[in-house]
Amino acid sequence: MRLEPLISTDDIQAKVGELAGAVERHGTKDLLLIGVLKGSLHFLSDFSRRLSGDVQIDFISVSSYADGKESSGIVQIRKDLDTNIEGRDVLIVEDIVDTGATLRHLRELLGTRKPRSLKVVSLLSKLQARGISSDIEYVGFEIPDEFVVGYGLDYGERYRNLPYIAILREG
Ligand code: IMP
Ligand code: MG
Repeated sequence: MRLEPLISTDDIQAKVGELAGAVERHGTKDLLLIGVLKGSLHFLSDFSRRLSGDVQIDFISVSSYADGKESSGIVQIRKDLDTNIEGRDVLIVEDIVDTGATLRHLRELLGTRKPRSLKVVSLLSKLQARGISSDIEYVGFEIPDEFVVGYGLDYGERYRNLPYIAILREG
């Protein structure tokens, strides 16, 4: 396996600041951030610290990838929220959107719990690369349809601690 750098630490940090600015312009009063474990760990940490408001943080864990590089399309909840989101302004914080199945499922599930609003911020998206349009409110980078690791993203639980994002190449 070979790592081909795609997005530098500095570029990630600049984009995280931009995304926080965009979210703040729409108001963060009483906002609840929901980090999707584990991939969003660094993004949620950096992003939440760029928001000046008093936000709350919770986590949800879902699985869609078995162990490899292909999405299984089957989404299971592994750890549910601790927070009652009824009447709350909720922002799902995701690392990457690939097929969109995970977010579709999360929106459906959390939507039934009657939040006041439900939006999504994702650092990365491959949807454009796949020719699929999406309804994600805030996207950091549109990336090519390649498997990437680093800054929270893993391959078989490896590479999450890389401070930058890289394409994982065979050989
Ligand atoms: P989706 O349901 O196909 O949109 O896949 C979303 C989830 O799959 C993300 O939350 C990631 O955890 C994982 N994923 C998708 N693409 C990649 C990738 O390129 N590298 C690492 N994980 C990925
Ligand atoms: Mg994820």
